[in-house]
Amino acid sequence: MNPVTIVTGASSGIGEALARVFAGRGHALALVARREQRLKALAAEIVASGAPEPLVLAIDLTLPTAAAWIGNALAARGLEPQYVVNNAGFGLVGRADALDRDEQLATIDLNMRALADLSLAFVDSLARHRGGILNVASVAGLIPGPGSAVYYASKAFVVSFSDALHAELAPRGIRVTCLCPGPVATGFQARAGVAEAEPPRPFALPADRVARAGYRGLMRGRRMVVPGIANKIVAALAPRIVPRETLLAMLEARQARRLT
Ligand SMILES: NC(=O)c1ccc[n+]([C@@H]2O[C@H](COP(=O)([O-])OP(=O)(O)OC[C@H]3O[C@@H](n4cnc5c(N)ncnc54)[C@H](OP(=O)(O)O)[C@@H]3O)[C@@H](O)[C@H]2O)c1
Repeated sequence: MNPVTIVTGASSGIGEALARVFAGRGHALALVARREQRLKALAAEIVASGAPEPLVLAIDLTLPTAAAWIGNALAARGLEPQYVVNNAGFGLVGRADALDRDEQLATIDLNMRALADLSLAFVDSLARHRGGILNVASVAGLIPGPGSAVYYASKAFVVSFSDALHAELAPRGIRVTCLCPGPVATGFQARAGVAEAEPPRPFALPADRVARAGYRGLMRGRRMVVPGIANKIVAALAPRIVPRETLLAMLEARQARRLT
């Protein structure tokens, strides 16, 4: 079976940028998201750059059968995963008791359940090809999240789960890296329900820079990658030096500002 890199959420933002980076480094790709036309447009762009044609797999990853469906679609074409890039995700901003409960549960289905399923479904083929898993969490996974409670908690799951897999899968030669971006201007903000013109400086970075940092970290076997100096400082210091109550109040105030 030929090796392939699965990139979820490749129809937009950071996932699209990650797909370009992997394609540019010679990896055959399977692009996954719901919006097929956007995946096809990206596949055409990748072909035009001289890389092999990516496989386009349009599917809703919140379906419990999604990982099995992807595995079957690859196998039918003589492909099996070498790398899995779990990037698809979304979050909502607002008080958890005011936001739609089903939508918040869909965050859990995508950011946690689908990510865990795809992380575990192909471990044997990842080991065969000495590949790995790149899980996209967020700085949000490292700090408390009033005003976006389910999203922050879902990313804390991704951080904890990826850390554990990093240790567990290392003896099998599988790299597991958790990418924790700060703010990036993508489709994320509109989906979250915030009206930010520009993500805040000095934390904001462009998607292509975040993608390159994630790729480099994965290839070097890093446990965690936090792109950008300002984000590194927040991730490393805020939980240690700012009292938890103060951090909760600061973050609640920030999320409230994003809604106005
Ligand atoms: N932007 C930020 O500030 C930021 C910061 C830190 C972390 N992140 C994380 O980065 C990742 C990528 O987000 P982004 O910023 O690039 O946002 P984005 O532009 O909104 O992209 C989200 C991607 O996820 C896919 N997706 C959403 N729901 C899906 C579903 N049910 N099934 C399959 N695919 C689905 C979307 O594709 P379809 O709609 O076509 O399905 C899209 O390709 C997310 O995990 C996010 O939490 C973002």
